[in-house]
Amino acid sequence: MQLSRLIAHKILNSRKEETIAVIAEVKGKRVEASAPSGTSVGKHEVRAFSSRGLDFSISFVNAFGKKLVDEKIKFETFDDLKKLETFIKKYDQTKNLEFIGGNTLYALEAAILKALAISREQELWTFLLEDKEHNPSKLSKPSLPKPLGNCIGGGLHVKQQNKTDFQEFLILPKTKYFFDSYFINMQAYKEAKSLLKEKDKEWQGTLTDENALASTLDNESVLALLQEVRQKIKDKFDIDISFGIDMAATALWKGRTYKYKNYTSTKKEKTFTKEEQISYVSELARKNSLVYIEDPLHEEDFDGFNKLKTNTPNIFICGDDLTCTKLERLERAIKSKAINALIVKPNQAGSLLETKEVIDLAKKHDILTIISHRSGETYDNTIAHLAVGWQIPLIKTGIIGKERFAKLHELLRIERMISIK
Ligand code: PGA
Ligand code: ZN
Repeated sequence: MQLSRLIAHKILNSRKEETIAVIAEVKGKRVEASAPSGTSVGKHEVRAFSSRGLDFSISFVNAFGKKLVDEKIKFETFDDLKKLETFIKKYDQTKNLEFIGGNTLYALEAAILKALAISREQELWTFLLEDKEHNPSKLSKPSLPKPLGNCIGGGLHVKQQNKTDFQEFLILPKTKYFFDSYFINMQAYKEAKSLLKEKDKEWQGTLTDENALASTLDNESVLALLQEVRQKIKDKFDIDISFGIDMAATALWKGRTYKYKNYTSTKKEKTFTKEEQISYVSELARKNSLVYIEDPLHEEDFDGFNKLKTNTPNIFICGDDLTCTKLERLERAIKSKAINALIVKPNQAGSLLETKEVIDLAKKHDILTIISHRSGETYDNTIAHLAVGWQIPLIKTGIIGKERFAKLHELLRIERMISIK
């Protein structure tokens, strides 16, 4: 495939922040990809945009795109992104993509992949799935990921003072089909909303950046409320749901201790040492039958992750800020036996080649992979395609909101395409 045009422009994400969208043109058809942005950004993520600013990132893509077109650079396979990255390295040799920015590279690569798929009259997920290099044994019936839904939240995703310390209270329905999980997440969200109206007197209907319910209740009361939601869902639909949390503990870490501001209903403030945090989280998981805990310790504490994982053998201990979708961080996590689950956010790495390597390495070590949106999202649906094309078992992309539906509804459509004979 040879591109006939590749240009970038500025758009606003769900938080009304500026970000980059890249349009690629091939055989008279146009595709677009855009990049999201985070708030609870990991220290080891690449830089989002050029240190010279977003405008520079955009003019870089425009000049670079013209060069790719003029020099008739061909892309045929996923691995051909190597050509692009070798080219990019001439301009940006920094480890954290200081010169062009990770969002720039991600949007550029996603747009090229979408163009490649459309040039073959394929969908992106089928193109990725049929890529011989990466899927030598062609799957006859690919699986859809399970949606891990953010139902209630706080932390850095909420501006108001009165909020939960944990960033996300997540729901994972035990269903076979994506459609059913999507439906149950939505119903659980509705139940949680009406219970909050009743029990959370200070809640004024505020939502988090990811459209989860921004409760003012303390962490443990939220977990108790979710158990009620679980019962209601069981009674109405005869379907069970399990729970997880994203503690995003780097935001709680104050250098020597973890500081809580909404610990329990009677004791708002609480300070924990590392060892106390590990015991607290282990007990919290046991008491509330949690199946998944993301970033329970701060982003440099590989040893703490390992201790917690040893304490909680049947729970997924997941790295997000810890690992930042970077190969060397994952290698370190594997060496220190820190995690058995991994958040994958392609724009934390910028490179889709590195993202794929990270997923492959995690899978090789039996680490559960979860592809994830960011809190500041766009209408882009690339991660839905990556989830199916790369057979990633879970996707974390919210429960409601247009930017979240862009991914969820794409997965519903893909499920229909796969299931209709
Ligand atoms: P972010 O956080 O997108 O705001 O960085 C999401 C998460 O921590 O999972
Ligand atoms: Zn996280």
